[in-house]
Amino acid sequence: MKTVFSGLKPSGDMTIGNYLGAMKYWPAHQGIARTIFFVPNAHAITVRQDPAELRKRTYDLIAWLLTVGLDPKQSIILVQSKVSAHAELCWILDNYVTMGELGRMTEYKDKSQKLGPTGQLVGLFNYPVLMAADILLYSADEVPVGEDQRQHLELARTIAERFNRLYGETFTLPKATVPKFGARIMSLDNPSKKMSKSDHPDSFIMLAETADSIRKKFKRAVTDSDNTIVYDKTAKPAVSNLLDIYAGFSEEEISDIEKRYKGKGYGDFKSELAELVVEKLTSLQSEFNTIRADEAKLDAVINDGSAKAAKIANEKLDEAKDKIGLL
Ligand code: TYM
Repeated sequence: MKTVFSGLKPSGDMTIGNYLGAMKYWPAHQGIARTIFFVPNAHAITVRQDPAELRKRTYDLIAWLLTVGLDPKQSIILVQSKVSAHAELCWILDNYVTMGELGRMTEYKDKSQKLGPTGQLVGLFNYPVLMAADILLYSADEVPVGEDQRQHLELARTIAERFNRLYGETFTLPKATVPKFGARIMSLDNPSKKMSKSDHPDSFIMLAETADSIRKKFKRAVTDSDNTIVYDKTAKPAVSNLLDIYAGFSEEEISDIEKRYKGKGYGDFKSELAELVVEKLTSLQSEFNTIRADEAKLDAVINDGSAKAAKIANEKLDEAKDKIGLL
């Protein structure tokens, strides 16, 4: 049985990008694969976090995982900081990757440029190695992620191959699985930038966004120059992005949506898209609120999942240590 593994970091509020590009696809693997999902909270501290906020967002994310349909009876659900093997394997893997390789990571280049010298923390640089450790500890075959994580996945694979070549078969080579549509939801105010929770609030829609705010944000969302609803990422990036969002929530083919809006303009399209998103998010939010209210149950999910995960992770860590000659 193959293993499917992925996660979301609690560094801000969840956006529809996180949902449509990644999370939405996770529950369907349950029952078919061994499924392990996690909250990489140690990844979040590469930029300063308020401790109470970080704690709260970690619970929020566990609740979102359950809301979208992950079932703790079928999937292992863990919090990264509860399984110390992640940090230990990260240190080991640090010795099988070069500064040059890490320096080429696009996410690091973008973030370090934005943050300036005082924000260029070693943890930020090392982030992809911790991510490789996360994935390799659980022998993940498939890692369902959005497009922006593909480069990190390739690095994890390179590190695994290098280790295996030196010490014999130890780590499974992971593969990124990226959805056909929605793998890169773009910002609503600038379709050349990825929708991101760390940008201006007008540029993204949170999973927890209120109905009024969803309507306002879609109304303000930029469109392209002619008034036609056609999918063309190069010539019409803004409308193509809105079509990706539409298709992601309605589960329709883009071509069917285009047909329905033939002869109609942006106004109709944007207001109907807003209503579709309001309907879907309102229903997810009401389920989320119920699940989030029971923190004792969330603690039980975290503790049980993290204990199960630690068993798997420690075994792999011991195997790697043994191969290298670490007692
Ligand atoms: P994170 O928390 O930034 O994002 C979580 C998932 O959401 C996807 N995503 C998007 N997809 C489409 N359009 C967007 N605008 C968009 N924004 C985000 C991401 O691709 C991701 O799949 N480094 C990871 C967290 C992580 C991880 C791991 C993931 C740490 N260790 C091991 C998988 C396996 C991250 O920052 O994701």
